[in-house]
Amino acid sequence: MEQSIHPDSNIYKFPIHPFKRFNKKCVEFKQPVEITCFSYDENRQLHMDDRESRYYYPPNLEDCNLSVGYENLIQKSEGPEPIHSLLDALIHLNETKGDEVKADIVSWRGIFTKLLCTPYNRNESWEFGATLYNNTIFIEEHETEQTRLYREGSTPKAKLMGYWGYKFEALCTIGVPATEIQSPDDPELLARKNTIVNTNIQYCSVSKTSLGKNRLIMGAEVDCLIDVKPPYPENPINRYIELKTTKILKNERDNFLFERYKLIKFWAQSFLIGLPKIIVGFRDDDGNLCSLKEIKTLEIPRMVRGKDKMWDAVICLNFLNEFFEWLRRVIDIEDANSSYVISFKEPYQEIEVTFCHNKNPVLADRHLKSFGK
Ligand code: A3P
Ligand code: MG
Ligand code: MG
Repeated sequence: MEQSIHPDSNIYKFPIHPFKRFNKKCVEFKQPVEITCFSYDENRQLHMDDRESRYYYPPNLEDCNLSVGYENLIQKSEGPEPIHSLLDALIHLNETKGDEVKADIVSWRGIFTKLLCTPYNRNESWEFGATLYNNTIFIEEHETEQTRLYREGSTPKAKLMGYWGYKFEALCTIGVPATEIQSPDDPELLARKNTIVNTNIQYCSVSKTSLGKNRLIMGAEVDCLIDVKPPYPENPINRYIELKTTKILKNERDNFLFERYKLIKFWAQSFLIGLPKIIVGFRDDDGNLCSLKEIKTLEIPRMVRGKDKMWDAVICLNFLNEFFEWLRRVIDIEDANSSYVISFKEPYQEIEVTFCHNKNPVLADRHLKSFGK
């Protein structure tokens, strides 16, 4: 039987190991620059503005149980977010400011984060869909059994713990600049204690950057910003803060697990959009917030450097650069109605790419006109 040039069964593989091959001079990563932003409101309606951005204001550690209000949680129900709203934001930018943004790869920051951590990932599978259109690869996430279980919480305790992260965000943020808070009884501070957590609400920043020769555009949810005196920095990213919760560290083993498995994700997530500072809330097993620590994103690689069985940011960045170079050679069928599946699964040795004719296109019809030639 004659083989077609691109049979559906073609599988391309990018081996992860030996990842020592990525241990060389670090590829250049340009400082990300915000190009636009948007918000989802409480009903998940999209607005091309910053109406849902919040200001950081430290929580009151005296009175901080992260389980409070769990019964009122309003949770966004679907699985991974398609990239439609990100593409709508790029189209809006083009229509209102005339800015035409060109990139080799467009996706959510969460997808870039998973890719950046892949050399050190031994047990978390993921699957993405990608469509090549007008020389740009658009990538979105597919839900797998493992990511669904993680998102929904596999046990009642896991579901509650999923709430803790959102509640921490609610307790650390206010709707007005911190300088406007006059006293501990300020209505903004009282209001945030009783806020009903609604995960539909998000503020997203869209930034452009490049990794080696790969021009990237990322959409990223941003937790809050710090209040600074004008003049404001030109790039709003410099004011952004990421909030994370984690278990208190009681011994050497806890420290190791935190640095090996959590810090790599904290670093990757924030580094990719050039976000400078992470505020970590340490909590006990009952969800009581015990302490806070500020971590500068750029200092994280040094915190783990040279330690046994750790990770190396240079390997992550060189890996991602070479993976993107390879991906851009492999993904060569420009077809808005089709997609490629990019997957990483047991035994976690390689990333696989397959072409799926006329299946799961990433772009909606309304995007084709705008991103067309
Ligand atoms: P923690 O990361 O503090 O546990 P983010 O930190 O990325 O802004 O996300 C905020 C919170 O959303 C997380 O807090 C966690 O509670 C929850 N969360 C994030 N990604 C999730 C996912 N894929 N599935 C379930 N919950 C998630
Ligand atoms: Mg967030
Ligand atoms: Mg956060």
